[in-house]
Amino acid sequence: MTGLTADVVVVGAGLIGLATAWRLAADGIQVTVCDPTPGTQTSTVAAGMLAPVTEVEYGEDDLLALNLASVAAWPSFAAELQDAAGVPAGLHQTGTLAVAYDVDDAAALRRLADYQRRLGLEVEELSGRESRQREPMLAQGVSGGVWVPGDHSVDNRQAVTALLRAVEVSGVTLIRERVARVITSGTTAVGVQLENGDSIHAGQVIGAAGPWSGQLDGVPQELRPPVRPVKGEVLRLRVPEAYRPALTHTVRATARGFSVYLVPRPGGELVVGATSTELGYDTRVLAGGVFALLRDARTVLPITDELELVEAIAGLRPATPDNAPVLGPSGLDGLLWATGHYRNGVLLTPITAQIIAETVRTGVLPELGKPFLAGRFTAR
Ligand code: GLY
Repeated sequence: MTGLTADVVVVGAGLIGLATAWRLAADGIQVTVCDPTPGTQTSTVAAGMLAPVTEVEYGEDDLLALNLASVAAWPSFAAELQDAAGVPAGLHQTGTLAVAYDVDDAAALRRLADYQRRLGLEVEELSGRESRQREPMLAQGVSGGVWVPGDHSVDNRQAVTALLRAVEVSGVTLIRERVARVITSGTTAVGVQLENGDSIHAGQVIGAAGPWSGQLDGVPQELRPPVRPVKGEVLRLRVPEAYRPALTHTVRATARGFSVYLVPRPGGELVVGATSTELGYDTRVLAGGVFALLRDARTVLPITDELELVEAIAGLRPATPDNAPVLGPSGLDGLLWATGHYRNGVLLTPITAQIIAETVRTGVLPELGKPFLAGRFTAR
């Protein structure tokens, strides 16, 4: 058995694990990240919306505060990442237009806009005509909208590429192996053992394995985060030159009671998402999922029929019982969680990396992270 050492070992090289490793390395900390397939799972499948306002849910105030802090952190995070990596970080500050199709959809959108206003969030209600002035290719049947200037998007694939480059130049060691278990000494995590038998000893282990975070052997069962996979199917379409840009803002729609979002990229790609199903670790793309996404997309954006279907892919959101992430001390000394980001992984990347790096540096979880301790589940 080979014994390697690091100050910190990060389990999982999705956006969260990579960004955390990059931040720690910037503080002069020696970091090793382990993942059999870095950057290829949920982080690559996602559509990359930064949507604290349009995805706000009733009663999730702590999560909203975290989401707003992270959307505010994205511009400087992206600028630094771009500098470090020498490639784009993928941030597009376009704003988001939420639209409704029939009268029931419009009533639901108005109720949500009322709630958003009560929370002090910046939203502007629009008629159907005003919505089409912002996005001329929207269907005539679109009956109303809400303009949300602060919700943006990130080309998550560019962000993954940039982070892989940034960790490399900042001296992080990336090991393409699955972690078999966390090594403990008494009640302290002291490293990890890899599937190939190698072990890495570290003063700090960070669990950032997304939907697989609850499966880390070596962590006592009662301390494992209650993270479960929620499958999302996503399509990538190509807009022919003649129709570009089909959209200039992210569009979220409720169409006859069904939700769909369409996220345009500058190069002519249109990302359409996402289904939401609880089928365990199943990443098959089902015909019904593709059908539903295309049905709803073409209801609000008829030109969808003319776009090339380039990719249909499914990923697993790491969901928790209260839809919020699990951050900070795990209950096992030496093990921190940075997981359970559910629908907000891309959005929460900068703030998670900042919170976890500060916790490693100071030994104290910053105030903003406190509502998200794993202990909130065991306390119930
Ligand atoms: N935040 C988008 C999704 O989870 O589908």
